[in-house]
Amino acid sequence: MNRRFSLLFVLAVVAATSFAAEDLNGDDLIIQQVVDTDNLLNADHHFRLFKRKFGKSYATKEEHEYRFSVFKTNLRRARRHQKLDPSAVHGITRFSDITPAEFRRNHLGLKRLRLPSDANKAPILPTENLPADFDWRDRGAVTAVKNQGSCGSCWSFSTTGALEGANFLATGKLVSLSEQQLVDCDHECDPEEPGSCDSGCNGGLMNSAFEYTLKAGGLMQEEDYPYTGTDRGTCKFDKTKIAASVANFSVVSLDEDQIAANLVKNGPLAVAINAVFMQTYVGGVSCPYICSKRLDHGVLLVGYGSSGYAPIRLKEKPYWIIKNSWGESWGENGYYKICQGRNVCGVDSMVSTVAAVHTTSQ
Ligand SMILES: *[C@@H]1O[C@H](CO)[C@@H](O)[C@H](O)[C@H]1NC(C)=O
Repeated sequence: MNRRFSLLFVLAVVAATSFAAEDLNGDDLIIQQVVDTDNLLNADHHFRLFKRKFGKSYATKEEHEYRFSVFKTNLRRARRHQKLDPSAVHGITRFSDITPAEFRRNHLGLKRLRLPSDANKAPILPTENLPADFDWRDRGAVTAVKNQGSCGSCWSFSTTGALEGANFLATGKLVSLSEQQLVDCDHECDPEEPGSCDSGCNGGLMNSAFEYTLKAGGLMQEEDYPYTGTDRGTCKFDKTKIAASVANFSVVSLDEDQIAANLVKNGPLAVAINAVFMQTYVGGVSCPYICSKRLDHGVLLVGYGSSGYAPIRLKEKPYWIIKNSWGESWGENGYYKICQGRNVCGVDSMVSTVAAVHTTSQ
C-alpha cells in the first residue's frame, strides 16, 4: 500500500517536472513563432499556452471567442512591431488578449501631453565626466517593481519612484511610498488647462502629483497606505505618518546629456513615453524606426547603458533603463530598455526631477 503510494508520488513528480520543461519550451516557441513565421495556424496552441502562463479564464464562450480574435490580431501586431523594432523582442505578453484601446485605458494613464509652462526649469549641469554606464538599482535607490493593475495610475508610480530615489539620496533610506495616497487624494489641476486634473485610475500627471505632494506635506509609506488598484475609496491621508517630502521639482531640458547628468546627480527621473510598443515588448533594446511622440505613459528612468545589443544592424547602441509598473513578469523583470539618440517614442520630451526634504528621523 505504502509503496504503491510512493511510486505514484514519484510519477507525479516526474510528470510535474516534464510539464515544467514543456512549459519553458512553450515560451520559447511562442516568441520564435511570432518572429519567424507568417501564418497564424498555431494561434490555437499559442492561445492555450498564453492562458496557462498568465492564468487567464473567460466567463463565457462568447468572451472566450472574442478574446481569441483579439489575441490573433495582437500576434499580427507583435510581428509588425518586430519588423519595425528589430533590436527588441516582441511577442506574446500578458496584454495579448486586450485591444490597444483597452490597453491605453486600463494600463497607462498619463493625462496630458504638454509641459506646464510655469514649471521650474532644472539648472544646466556639467556633462563632462559622466560615467559610461549608470544604474541606480546598483546603488540602492530603486524599490522593487510594482504593479498598477487595471487602473490608469501610471503617473502615481512614476511620481513615487522619483521621490523614493530622491528621498534615498536625502536620507540614506529606501522607503517604498504610497501610490494609493495619490490615487485617492491628489486632484491637483493644471492652472492653464481647465478640467485637466489628477484623477485616480483615469490618469494624471507627474508634475501635478509633485505639486500636490509639496502642498500636502508629503507621502506616506506603501505599508501604511497600501495600493488597492481602484479609485473608489476615500482619501485616508494621515499627516502624522508622512515618510517623504518634496523640497522642489523641476523639468529637465530635452538634451540627453542633461537628462543623464540630472539622473546621476539627483536620482531616478519621472519620464513620459509613448507606450505603443510596450504592449508587445518581451525584451532587448527597443529602438523602433517609427514611433509616435504622443506621450501616454508615465515611467521611471533609473539608468543608462552605453552598448545595447542590436542584432540586425550590428551596432552598439546606448540606451535608457526604464522601470515600469506592470509587475515583474512584464518585459525584462519589469524593466524596459529604449535606445538613446533621437527622442524615440518621446522618451526625452517630458522629464522631471524632484528633490526630497532632508529629514532627521528618529
Ligand atoms: C531643491 O532642494 C534641494 C534640497 O533641499 C536643494 O539642495 C536644491 O538647491 C533645491 N533646488 C532648487 C532648484 O531650488
